Amino acid sequence: MKIGMFDSGIGGLTVLAKALELMPDAEYLYYADSDNAPYGTKTTDQVKEYSDRAVSFLISLGAEAVVIACNTATSAAASYLREKYPIPIIGVEPAVKPAVAMCEGKHVLVLATPLTVREKKLHDLIDRVDNAGAVDLLAMPELVGHAEKADFDSDELKEYVEKTLEGFFAENQRTASDYSVVVFGCTHFNHFKTVLEPFFEKNTAFIDGAEGTVKNMMNITAGKRLSDPADRGIRYFESGREVTERDKLDLYEMLLAHLK
Ligand code: DGL
Repeated sequence: MKIGMFDSGIGGLTVLAKALELMPDAEYLYYADSDNAPYGTKTTDQVKEYSDRAVSFLISLGAEAVVIACNTATSAAASYLREKYPIPIIGVEPAVKPAVAMCEGKHVLVLATPLTVREKKLHDLIDRVDNAGAVDLLAMPELVGHAEKADFDSDELKEYVEKTLEGFFAENQRTASDYSVVVFGCTHFNHFKTVLEPFFEKNTAFIDGAEGTVKNMMNITAGKRLSDPADRGIRYFESGREVTERDKLDLYEMLLAHLK
């Protein structure tokens, strides 16, 4: 079985790592739209267009299902893509429901891109599951650029995180101790768990939507034939060009291994 997955860049590797763990018997085509990253600061129509191109490319390579391994593209384009294409299209959503269920009277901080924070999809989800007003939203767009540069611990990155969180807490009269759960509402943000953790209390939970998405993918594709062992594995593409350079492939493999 061929499964296509796409994101604006390396964020979707979070979902791919989970898919490889739970469903290793498939052939994965991973599409990083590096020509158009970041998505989170673009318009909804632009992200629809990029997502359309990614899905049509993955289908041309034989993908039998496509996972949108990007919260931003899911908010902007999932319904449109599902109407347009006949194959299953599975999206990733911020894990707001489990976060609210486990927050024990404290607050939940959802970190996402500006587009996800502004789209109706997330606000509808919060309206459905958060009766107590527990959820706060914070856009951290610059994290995506740091991830795409493979910068996971520079001083500049840490200063951005500190400045953004402190500004948000001051503006909303909150402190880090108000939060028991932080939701990675952008797949790129999992790469920054070790940078974010020191800003919160020790027992704060950090969760994402990867596992739910992969389980959904497994239910939807259940019954399809698995791939022959020789075909299993991952092929990487950057905006439609197959990645063959050893150093790039090593970076993808290293990031995947780090996410396991
Ligand atoms: N990784 C994406 C997400 O989950 C998008 C990041 C971006 O390109 O801005 O939202």
